[in-house]
Amino acid sequence: MLRIADEQTQDFEIKHMERIRDLASECVVLLKNNNVLPFCETKRIALYGSGARRTQKGGTGSGDVNVRHFVTIEEGMENAGIEITSKSWLDGYEKIMREAKAEWVQSLKDEARKIGVNPIMFSMGKAMPEPDYELPLDVEGDVAVYVLTRISGEGSDREDTAGDMELTETEIRDILALDKAYKKFVLVLNVGGMINLAPVASVKSVLLLGQLGTPTGDVCTEILLGKKYPSGKLAMTWAPIHKYASTEGFGDMNDTRYHEGVYVGYRYFDSIKEQPAYPFGYGLSYTKFQIETKEFCVNENEVSVTVSVKNIGDTVGKEVVQIYYSAPWGQLDKPYQELAAFAKTRELSPGEVEILSLTFDVTSMASYSEERKAYILERGDYIVRVGNSSRDTEACGILRIDNDVVTYQVKSICPEWGHKDFVPEKYIVEFPQNVKIIEVKADTILKSEAVYEKEPPYIPAGRTVDWREVASGEKSIEEFIAGLEDEQLADLCVGNYAKDSTQTVIGSACTTVAGGAGETTHFLKNLHLNAISMADGPAGIRISKAYRIVDGKVKSCEDSIVGMLSEFGDEDQQKTVAQMKAEATQKENETPLYYQYCTAIPIGTALAQSFNEEICKICGDIVGEEMELFGISLWLAPALNIQRSPLCGRNFEYYSEDPLVSGKIASAITKGVQRHPGRGTTVKHFAANNQETNRYTSNSIVSERALREIYLKGFEICIRESNPEAVMTSYNLVNGEHACNSKDLLTYVLRNEWGYKGVVMTDWYVTTEMMKNPSSKYPAASAAGCVKAGNNLTMSGLPSDKEDIMNALKDASHRYRLSTGELQACAKAVLHSILRLGEEI
Ligand code: BGC
Repeated sequence: MLRIADEQTQDFEIKHMERIRDLASECVVLLKNNNVLPFCETKRIALYGSGARRTQKGGTGSGDVNVRHFVTIEEGMENAGIEITSKSWLDGYEKIMREAKAEWVQSLKDEARKIGVNPIMFSMGKAMPEPDYELPLDVEGDVAVYVLTRISGEGSDREDTAGDMELTETEIRDILALDKAYKKFVLVLNVGGMINLAPVASVKSVLLLGQLGTPTGDVCTEILLGKKYPSGKLAMTWAPIHKYASTEGFGDMNDTRYHEGVYVGYRYFDSIKEQPAYPFGYGLSYTKFQIETKEFCVNENEVSVTVSVKNIGDTVGKEVVQIYYSAPWGQLDKPYQELAAFAKTRELSPGEVEILSLTFDVTSMASYSEERKAYILERGDYIVRVGNSSRDTEACGILRIDNDVVTYQVKSICPEWGHKDFVPEKYIVEFPQNVKIIEVKADTILKSEAVYEKEPPYIPAGRTVDWREVASGEKSIEEFIAGLEDEQLADLCVGNYAKDSTQTVIGSACTTVAGGAGETTHFLKNLHLNAISMADGPAGIRISKAYRIVDGKVKSCEDSIVGMLSEFGDEDQQKTVAQMKAEATQKENETPLYYQYCTAIPIGTALAQSFNEEICKICGDIVGEEMELFGISLWLAPALNIQRSPLCGRNFEYYSEDPLVSGKIASAITKGVQRHPGRGTTVKHFAANNQETNRYTSNSIVSERALREIYLKGFEICIRESNPEAVMTSYNLVNGEHACNSKDLLTYVLRNEWGYKGVVMTDWYVTTEMMKNPSSKYPAASAAGCVKAGNNLTMSGLPSDKEDIMNALKDASHRYRLSTGELQACAKAVLHSILRLGEEI
């Protein structure tokens, strides 16, 4: 591990920033362009809007990254030599925001006090709504840019209010006025999720920049000036919020019913024939493309579509080809269409052609039948389409299956959702003429059956083994386990904590990496067992910028909780913090300071919009390299929950409403990180973590079909394709049981059906009542329940977790009564990970 004692910018920082700057334009979606962009010869720009100077590089919470510096849009323009003519507006806006922030913090504290909740927990993830104001727009020159920004983060959901998902009166007034006044005007969206653009639908041009990490402002400028071009596509449908099937009942404190079933995002809008504002898969380019099918065939259970893509415009660009299929209705209703494959071209010059071949398995089109407890392909015609958005496709072939096939026989999981999912009115799928029909015999299609494991075997007690003997290959992990007491096994299944700990401080739970989120136990140091360190993502690595080493342990020179206490705490808390800081400084001043500046990569949603697995691999590679530098074994990312509703406060960390896109992007990132030996990803939050309201104990009520086809599917793809080192379970319950206590999800699906062998950990502090909202209906999860279910590590670890496990071994009436065999099996996966990833402690 490198200890950087020098505050100068390091070579790796420059290199990584350049790599991100190079690829990030692929994440940007051009929503509208009426002869405005690019501004090729422009030297002067009037720059307005909340995101011009106060640009956001990503969201808040554990998904934030503590960078040295990131480039705002104002700065990006100045770096490119542009003269900004609206400085007085930007200064005026800055002043307004400073005043508004002070008022807002006070109002949050007052509100929290009124309802009797901790102001820090109450304020978590809340975004300050945009204020209304009057600032003169000095109309000068020909070109204007209005940058609209929004931010959200874990702990709170977004709101359908002015200043969040809706535009404020001020924003609408100024955007419309600028569009009218300037010959060339573009509205740039520096956001992590959907905005209702209906009130400004008439503007000439809209660029969804997103939040692109460290080089955000440079990338924006390069695209506006035509030095780069946007080639992203929406990975989520944009439509007025009341039109989403998921809006009704979203964010209930206790029970959120996923009554729309599999009809999420475009699967819903396309099936009910509702035109969204911007469809899934949509995005313009500075040029135009023509896509033609060359060949459609099936080889041994694989469908293959060969297309030619021609650049028919007059500038360079890249296009994303998307293949969808419509499955026939039989016993099961089916969405109008579902994405089967996608691919992006290389950069094509005007007139240039690229031939792309896209493939997918016949069995990937199967639906889940709760009645038959199996994935089935029903007999009939599967119409395959090709295009460049869900609303712009052409049929390219038909697969005709002669009989029903069970492709994968499994068993029922997560019962008792107790509702009937929405079924759309049966729509007509036009039968395409003049396309090839391929007949497929049901008995030639691959079939398989899941095998479920029985009780894990007990490993009889043996002599104590030193971990060094295991590391050198002399002894096996089983022999090491044989030598452990129940107490030691329990320690292995709980994250590391200080012996007297009741603390719940995210950001200081790691003693080896400053600002890391957690690590595995140190209590087996006497056996020379090392530990795994963990740090957050997904928009880069979240660790402290500066630290010291005090009594052999790292100590951050910033602490997120201390920061929050200083801002949101009451007067006494603020005094204590000030005192703590002063004392710490006096004592520690002597020791040297070390620095850890990491690169912020584009947020998850932006990466998915690239529809380019290669660039996601590069981002993973950058993270992997920085993990090596800073001694981090596990990255707590990527996060691939489905963007079920635009209201979810953490959507920016997630990829898509579509499980194929989510799974493919997460596996590309994992491959990039895991190219680095000893480094692994932790895919999270497994599963159905689609809202932030009462996130510790909210219950997602989902039918098994929707769970399997939508919410688990992306994880399945990622796990089968890239074998991430770890999985993090989600806080929420699924049909009444905490995800981390669900044997159905963790043993039967994840391990038995998908063959996963890695380590599974909980999300942070899921077992403590302290974190949850006091009026919540459901209890916290149980650490013993984790062991029982196959969740190997309870994080970030508390003495009460170990106690719970020990009680479950002794007490026959414990809800999650445990055998030593079960505890051994649980610890075994942790030890396998430590063998692969563990660092010296
Ligand atoms: C978040 C996780 C994160 C963990 C550790 C939790 O609050 O939900 O995504 O990895 O904290 O920081």
